[in-house]
Amino acid sequence: MVAGANFNFNGCQVYKGYLDRFEQHALLSELRMIVSKAPLFSPLTPWGKPMSVKMTSAGKYGWYSDHKGYRYIPKHPNGTHWPEIPRSIQAIWHDLCGDQPNPECCLVNYYEKKAKMGLHQDKDEKNLMHPVLSISLGDDALFRIGGQNKNDRTESIWLSSGDVLVMSGASRLAYHGIDRIKYGSSQLLKSGGRLNLTLRVVD
Ligand code: SIN
Ligand code: MN
Repeated sequence: MVAGANFNFNGCQVYKGYLDRFEQHALLSELRMIVSKAPLFSPLTPWGKPMSVKMTSAGKYGWYSDHKGYRYIPKHPNGTHWPEIPRSIQAIWHDLCGDQPNPECCLVNYYEKKAKMGLHQDKDEKNLMHPVLSISLGDDALFRIGGQNKNDRTESIWLSSGDVLVMSGASRLAYHGIDRIKYGSSQLLKSGGRLNLTLRVVD
């Protein structure tokens, strides 16, 4: 754990090395439990193409996408409720986001070798004042962040296993995405790749 953020772009704070190796492995065990109950799947974009990132969720809501658009849904596509968000993950939220309400969705993104995520805003939540917190595990990823307009200047930063990022204030609605991962740069996940957890208040 570190005392303060060591990257700040328009209010987007990155806490490099927030989780040590032991904490990363503990989090990985929690994620294995989540994925065993709510398996990863490839959502379809609203225009019908499978996303390169595989996803699942924990919490009251899971993030979902298909031809009907981006939205939160109360159950996994297999019909079961999403697993609860583990307390250890909630603790990270409260450590870095203070007295914000509990997160209602923990989206789990899995990036294989060629996966990436285009520039987008997180704006499917009802109240866009609450921060977005994201945790990186496994291979390094090139994260790009800009402003609230798609053509605003962007900055890039490599996110490594154990880094935690918070988008609040002016950065809450900033365009952001993952250009690529550096496959094989981390030994944390046996089969390689990157996991990202995104915590959000939905209602
Ligand atoms: C996202 O914006 O949903 C994911 C970002 C990341 O993988 O770091
Ligand atoms: Mn996002």
